[in-house]
Amino acid sequence: MLEVREVSKKFGSLIANNNISFDVEEGTIVGLIGPNGAGKTTLFNCITGMYKTTAGKISFQGLDITNLPPYKVARLGAVRTFQIVHSLKEMSVFDNILIGAYLREKNTEKAWEIADQCLQSCYLSGVRNVRAGDLAIGQQKRLELARALATGPKLLMLDECMAGLTSTEVNESISLIKSLKNSGITFLIVEHIMEAVMPIADKVVVLNGGIKIAEDCPEAIVQNERVIEAYLGQKYSKKFQLKAREEGI
Ligand SMILES: Nc1ncnc2c1ncn2[C@@H]1O[C@H](COP(=O)(O)OP(=O)(O)O)[C@@H](O)[C@H]1O
Ligand SMILES: [Mg+2]
Repeated sequence: MLEVREVSKKFGSLIANNNISFDVEEGTIVGLIGPNGAGKTTLFNCITGMYKTTAGKISFQGLDITNLPPYKVARLGAVRTFQIVHSLKEMSVFDNILIGAYLREKNTEKAWEIADQCLQSCYLSGVRNVRAGDLAIGQQKRLELARALATGPKLLMLDECMAGLTSTEVNESISLIKSLKNSGITFLIVEHIMEAVMPIADKVVVLNGGIKIAEDCPEAIVQNERVIEAYLGQKYSKKFQLKAREEGI
């Protein structure tokens, strides 16, 4: 469905993405992981047309989308959420979702229907008329998802949509993503919470320093030496250090 081929993105002399290639197969969930600064968000920005790539080719459903403007990429069905929440703070939750729905559906009644469905499926019915700026962080993240969903995406790209959520909210997000996958949506997910991404991903791509260092099923990724050294090990060791400090060791 999505083909990323030898994509590079430079900022001056900094190579944020270096010759990256991978595929996202239709109907699957692909996880994109790696330490901070690895180039994950930059790659999202290249795929969705927010940044112009320095080199390489990106295709979506057989169409060359390299350097198309964001609205055209979104209209084709490749839609993203943002790591930093982008909701329109002065507007209500429902109206935020309605904006997404209008991108797909010009008929008011149908757009309202779509927005209502997305409101429900993202567990936001209880805050329908609340100002988006007044939502708790977990709800804001779900609002991002609901608005993206309302546009009728084929490929949904989530950038750390579970960061800052409670473990209950993480579990809700996992079941939501699973049910959306069952309804036919394909996912590319950037996520730091390994407990969230590993159980649902069909495949995991690992970036480090702008380079793809691994691409495999989750079971193989957690045992991959390069990945442990570059990312997982570092994270786990941090966890251990914190625990040791808490216990006063
Ligand atoms: N607009 C930009 N201008 C200059 N450097 C950038 C820009 N966006 C990202 N970078 C740099 O590119 C690298 C990768 O960043 P990013 O893609 O945000 O990583 P990640 O999302 O994996 O944490 C970092 O070194 C970051 O500072
Ligand atoms: Mg990022």
